Amino acid sequence: MTMQKKLAVQALQWTGDALKVLDQRQLPEKIVYDEYSDAAGVTEAIATMRVRGAPAIGIAAAYGVVLSVSHHYSKDSGQWRQKVAADIEMLAKSRPTAVNLFWALDQMKAVLNQQLDNPLAAILACAEKIHADDIAANHKMGELGADIMAGAKGVMTHCNAGALATGGYGTALGVIRSAYQRQPVKVYAGETRPWNQGARLTVWELAQDGIPATLIADSAAAWLMKSGAVDWIIVGADRIAANGDAANKIGTYSLAVLAKQHGVKVMVVAPTSTIDWSMANGDQIEIEQRNQNELLPACYINDESLVSAWNPVFDVTPAELISAIVTERGVVLNPAEQGVRGLKNVI
Ligand code: MRU
Repeated sequence: MTMQKKLAVQALQWTGDALKVLDQRQLPEKIVYDEYSDAAGVTEAIATMRVRGAPAIGIAAAYGVVLSVSHHYSKDSGQWRQKVAADIEMLAKSRPTAVNLFWALDQMKAVLNQQLDNPLAAILACAEKIHADDIAANHKMGELGADIMAGAKGVMTHCNAGALATGGYGTALGVIRSAYQRQPVKVYAGETRPWNQGARLTVWELAQDGIPATLIADSAAAWLMKSGAVDWIIVGADRIAANGDAANKIGTYSLAVLAKQHGVKVMVVAPTSTIDWSMANGDQIEIEQRNQNELLPACYINDESLVSAWNPVFDVTPAELISAIVTERGVVLNPAEQGVRGLKNVI
């Protein structure tokens, strides 16, 4: 067992009666936690990207349901169930692409559908389990991913798939952390326009752990790969279809196409809560479109008639461009052959 360093900054902290959310929009300049005591607040925190990253969104939503039950539960009437159901619907509308959100809400609904003596205790236990299981899955994936990239000299990651995007440790950054503990590897991070999760979050998060990372402009990726400095592209995912197609932050597909041209391997690292077993392939994945103002220079924002922008924030990388999908249940090499279906019944 490798020694794990605890990351000082956590995206989410449950206080016992509220959810503290690190406002990732203010990083790296400021470390500010906002405290939410109802489901509406948590919905807002997800929609406005104070908390972001597929697993972290799911965990936040789970605590949002805990807050809803603690507000509405009453021993004397069944009315509370409708109010909680409405809050769950509201949370489900916060963002569309990361399936972890819907997966976590389904877990919570399954608990609520049971006959419970103490619904609040049961629902809190479920949220805490989702949170703890995610951290454990990340450590497991870290080791599995580090095994398959053994000997790599350089890796590139995109967006932020670290502790900030998960319960802790990270998916893609979990692999990089585990690999780095075994042997230092050169890490490159793309800035990840337009929200700059790579520039603001990833290089900062790695620096907290003493892992040096080199930031590149997104448009420098092809040239970097051509130089031979990168053996693996390592990314997270927001939703993986049964055939292995993987939705992730916009720009991931471009990197996978470039990787093919340059003989670089592509690793997608995600817990099985990111697999949408109901989707045969990635064509059906809803890609979130965010406000064009996130992309437009400020001088254009008030003149929509003159200039417009197209701002899809995820894309889908087809399985045939992915060398390995790493989950806590195991690794699927060449997912184009069989997809990830073989993982479904693995315990
Ligand atoms: O829009 P974001 O910042 O929520 O997008 C996050 C990503 O695309 C991550 O790479 C993905 O969720 C994997 S997180 C472990």
